[in-house]
Amino acid sequence: MSERPTTIVLFGATGDLARRKLLPGLLHLWGSGLLNDVRVVGTSLDDHTRESFVEFAQQAIAEFSSRKEARKDFQEFAKRLYFVRSDAGPEALKAVVAEAEQGYDGDSRPRRLHYLSVPPKAALSVIQTLAAADLVAYSRVVMEKPFGTDLATAVELNKKLHEVFAEEQIFRIDHFLGKEAALNILAFRFANGLFEPIWHRNHIDHIQIDVPETLGLETRAAFYEATGAYRDMVVTHLFQVLAFTAMEPPTSLEPQAITEEKNKVFRSMMPIQPENVVRGQFQGYRDLDGVAPESETETFIALKCYIDNWRWAGVPFYLRTGKRLAQGQRIISIAFKEPPKSMFPAGSGVSQHGPDHLTFDLADQSRMSLSFYGKRPGTGFRLDKHSMQFAMQESTGSAAALEAYERLIYDAVRGDHTLFTTSEGIERLWEVSQPLLDNPPPVRPYGQGSWGPNQIHQLVAPTAWRLPFEREWREPTA
Ligand code: BG6
Repeated sequence: MSERPTTIVLFGATGDLARRKLLPGLLHLWGSGLLNDVRVVGTSLDDHTRESFVEFAQQAIAEFSSRKEARKDFQEFAKRLYFVRSDAGPEALKAVVAEAEQGYDGDSRPRRLHYLSVPPKAALSVIQTLAAADLVAYSRVVMEKPFGTDLATAVELNKKLHEVFAEEQIFRIDHFLGKEAALNILAFRFANGLFEPIWHRNHIDHIQIDVPETLGLETRAAFYEATGAYRDMVVTHLFQVLAFTAMEPPTSLEPQAITEEKNKVFRSMMPIQPENVVRGQFQGYRDLDGVAPESETETFIALKCYIDNWRWAGVPFYLRTGKRLAQGQRIISIAFKEPPKSMFPAGSGVSQHGPDHLTFDLADQSRMSLSFYGKRPGTGFRLDKHSMQFAMQESTGSAAALEAYERLIYDAVRGDHTLFTTSEGIERLWEVSQPLLDNPPPVRPYGQGSWGPNQIHQLVAPTAWRLPFEREWREPTA
């Protein structure tokens, strides 16, 4: 439980992320006692008063909070909400923060968290506003991705950021790392003796990180048009998840130890070659408001990449993500090498359903499955594919699970960097991305509701995409 009061200054307070995740998440952190003395100063370009911002927050929470009980706490929470227009300037911001923090000083001085839920091109001007408003000391700052748009802009952004904030004050957020299921990869790999000995090139054939979305762009077309699927999802979320999957055991669960191992993965990553990339754009994208009629922005990307170290040399990692696809899924699928099949008679069915897989589902209700061949009951020797499955809901304490943004805000308020990315890691990821950014393959159209352009099959041949699943997940028993 946190004892010190906390002020959250939320930039982009009326944006999509604030509505869907941040405002509902802050209410939950307060209502559950994790941030028991919190004030939220919302700021954005929208024309709100304090009262209308409270109404806005109430609507957002009614629409997007997954927790019914949180909504009844709203009236009390509303007293903790403040608003200031971002074009009112640094002095106005300073004054509203002072109003929110009235009565607190000295030892009870609130710790401050500035959350920049703003597009990359607005980030620096917010940093300068914070400096001009004298809101840098005793503060931490959360930066949303994408962090820069290539190596040069990321280096420049880091440089400018460091002119105002020290590195230990900066929290570069990647919400995939706050997902319960992502953390479970670490538990699964390093708290069990069974899998780590086979977690390498001798036993693993390939790995897929597949995050198709059915979602379109709703109100985000303008942001997305300048960003695209690679910058929105791959260079951020998918590579971070890849690092958890591929890293060596850290010496401890401390931030520095984990960061060091993740950065080693990024350092060993081979540059992304354009011929190993399929870019796609869903039909109809160019008709959206805010999108250029000749837009070459990709709404879909699939790629093959390699980590050139002793554990992973030669093992392909296949990544895919895109908008308006057939299903919304977030899986990591580890395909094990197949055994020699000499003893099984023709027609036994061995390997007919692909290799054995270990699958992590990163959904909010996360799941895991291990598939294997077993004998079909009866005469002869026919083989069927089975699986052992586990769903987080079956675990005691699943009700205490935090949503990704909740966990990360809570960690940032307390100064815990474990699940945040560093400038070194991010700059290296832009560096390996450069061949693709310099020379992107053409965008290929794909139908809405499909799995992307046809070229995705060549990319993974002779293996196949794991999705759509041949067999659905079993419903959890609890
Ligand atoms: C965001 C991207 O970071 O992640 C979105 O900007 C994407 O485009 C979202 O839809 C996916 O996150 P989640 O948690 O819903 O899988």
